[in-house]
Amino acid sequence: MLPQPEQRGRIPPIHQGIAQNGARVFRSYSRFGRDSGVNLDTDLRRLKFTPFLGIRVSVVGWLCFTALLVTAAHQHSPRNELPDTTADRVTGVGWWPTKSPASTKVYVGSDACVDCHSTIDSAQSESEMAKAAFRLSGGAAGQPAPGDFKSGSYTYRFISNNALPGYSLEVSSNGQSNSYPISWTMGLGAHGQTYLLDGNGGMYESQASSFTFIHRVGLSPGHKPLEEGSVENALGIPLKSGDALRCFACHTTASSANSTLNTADAVPGVHCEACHGPGMDHVKAAIAGQKVQARQAIFNPASLTPTSSIDFCGACHRTTMDVILNEPEPGAFTIRFQPYRLEESRCWQTTKDARLACTQCHNPHAPMVRDAHFYDQKCLSCHSLRKDAKHVVSSGAWTVTPKICPKATANCASCHMPKSYVPEMNSTFVDHFIRIVRPGAPVPN
Ligand code: HEC
Ligand code: HEC
Ligand code: HEC
Ligand code: HEC
Ligand code: HEC
Ligand code: HEC
Ligand code: HEC
Repeated sequence: MLPQPEQRGRIPPIHQGIAQNGARVFRSYSRFGRDSGVNLDTDLRRLKFTPFLGIRVSVVGWLCFTALLVTAAHQHSPRNELPDTTADRVTGVGWWPTKSPASTKVYVGSDACVDCHSTIDSAQSESEMAKAAFRLSGGAAGQPAPGDFKSGSYTYRFISNNALPGYSLEVSSNGQSNSYPISWTMGLGAHGQTYLLDGNGGMYESQASSFTFIHRVGLSPGHKPLEEGSVENALGIPLKSGDALRCFACHTTASSANSTLNTADAVPGVHCEACHGPGMDHVKAAIAGQKVQARQAIFNPASLTPTSSIDFCGACHRTTMDVILNEPEPGAFTIRFQPYRLEESRCWQTTKDARLACTQCHNPHAPMVRDAHFYDQKCLSCHSLRKDAKHVVSSGAWTVTPKICPKATANCASCHMPKSYVPEMNSTFVDHFIRIVRPGAPVPN
């Protein structure tokens, strides 16, 4: 059975200091007040304090107690929750995306969900995420980009090899050439596709990728151009087992058990169980009509706090802590990591409100909406259009009046979430760092 979020019962390390301190102070106080059976008021009187002093002591006592309760509650409030690393989340109790279960037998496949969740299923299978990987070659472009790509003394191109299904990457240099067949295509091709090659008894991440925007072959993101040399090993970087495991965990479903990759069983793309966890126990209970057990046996992200909800999508889109801890020098390429960018903006910093969770703007069960007007309503759930409006946005602990735009009343995202160029992807990405963009100002890291 997969425990629900609130049963996950673990305190992420970063919160530990705060949570433990708060809990320790709170516990010691309540032990004095309750556990020892002492009644503050009467016991003080019994100690023959003057009534005046007694009242004063108890009033001060209650004030301190209330302050501590408020502090403790504040420290545990969603507003003070800090983002966490995905590594910490997946080692915790219960399900989290990219986690490797003990066995792949607990996966039942999305087809098994159709019977009872048919509307969700038909929309989800059309989403970009459901098409995040392909066996051999495939995707938006269908086949690798045409043409040559020159890097140092090497020339790369994708060739159709009649003896093998699909395509191969070929490299040639100084009259020598070598090729490895594509076994997997990673990415639908919204911006590009990188290939996994079979060669030398192992898996390689291709040195060349297809880029949709320029419709050409180019150097794969994160790869270094090679100097002159023999064509051996010029086709790509051997994929270390940990990197392969993570690559498949983000782009496919049910790809591993016990942290051991099983590409044969991997289902290309992000499907139901990649986000909700293995579904076998849920389906069994649902068929038996046990609704409570059914609900307990599947992870429902709807009950997550705003920060955790963003971390949930960040399991693949990278959380703020993933970026800060794993990227020594965050640069413009962090635009690809939406949780990090979004959490930099004042909208989020001031509120940490559910109205800014990824799921407010994106339905994980459907293709992404590509119409700026659609997102206006999301901004206007907090911001007002009217200069005379006393539009107070509050969520329990906080109250704030967000400012009104002097420039426009629609298409908010087009100016405040501008597209920025990411060189290694040869493409532009929507920047989730919501901000005032001044002409000519550099893109913040
Ligand atoms: C036999 C019918 C059935 C099948 C098959 C089924 N579900 Fe469900 N599912 C249910 C029922 C019933 C509920 C509870 C709905 C309720 O009480 O509102 C539910 C609830 C859920 C929830 C929300 C849980 C919660 O806490 O409210 C999720 C998420 C979910 N299902 C995912 C899946 C996934 C993923 C699959 C495929 C692996 C699947 N379901 C297959 C019947 C089914
Ligand atoms: C298991 C990994 C995983 C999780 C969890 C995940 N995503 Fe994704 N998502 C991806 C991958 C991989 C892609 C890239 C698809 C492609 O273009 O190949 C993607 C693409 C997207 C896109 C479409 C981008 C485009 O350019 O078309 C949106 C929107 C999106 N994700 C939103 C979300 C939201 C919201 C959540 C949280 C509810 C989430 N994702 C959780 C892996 C994941
Ligand atoms: C931590 C999760 C994660 C890992 C690991 C990961 N990806 Fe991705 N990948 C994503 C997400 C999320 C996106 C969508 C956002 C974006 O385009 O940056 C994406 C996008 C891509 C795209 C662009 C897709 C498009 O439609 O334009 C390619 C290509 C890609 N990944 C290849 C790879 C390859 C190859 C590996 C492993 C060798 C890998 N990724 C590892 C999460 C991951
Ligand atoms: C990219 C991650 C992702 C994928 C893939 C995904 N879901 Fe979900 N699902 C979510 C999130 C996030 C929520 C919570 C949405 C919210 O906050 O309202 C959710 C909620 C649900 C719920 C509960 C709805 C409710 O109102 O509580 C059901 C049922 C469900 N999903 C079924 C499915 C099924 C069936 C599939 C496959 C066809 C699927 N999901 C694929 C992320 C995902
Ligand atoms: C959860 C509520 C909320 C949502 C949703 C929201 N904002 Fe904000 N936004 C705020 C708050 C609060 C501030 C800070 C106001 C202040 O300091 O006076 C702010 C500040 C801003 C600023 C000024 C930033 C700066 O650095 O000075 C801009 C621009 C902005 N928001 C635009 C948007 C746009 C565009 C959207 C939709 C894409 C949006 N906001 C969605 C609450 C929100
Ligand atoms: C044509 C581009 C454009 C569009 C569209 C646009 N804005 Fe702005 N917005 C700006 C600029 C430029 C500023 C900075 C104005 C200044 O300080 O001179 C700004 C300022 C703001 C501010 C900060 C105001 C302050 O007093 O600090 C907020 C909040 C804001 N916009 C929200 C929105 C919302 C919400 C929408 C959609 C309804 C929107 N904007 C649409 C360009 C735009
Ligand atoms: C306030 C609304 C809003 C929120 C919150 C939001 N997004 Fe977006 N997102 C957008 C808009 C607008 C686009 C651009 C859509 C288009 O192409 O027209 C976008 C695009 C994307 C893309 C595609 C980027 C590209 O250029 O290829 C991904 C992936 C994505 N969002 C993921 C996320 C994730 C993950 C989160 C949570 C951290 C998130 N979004 C939160 C509004 C939002």
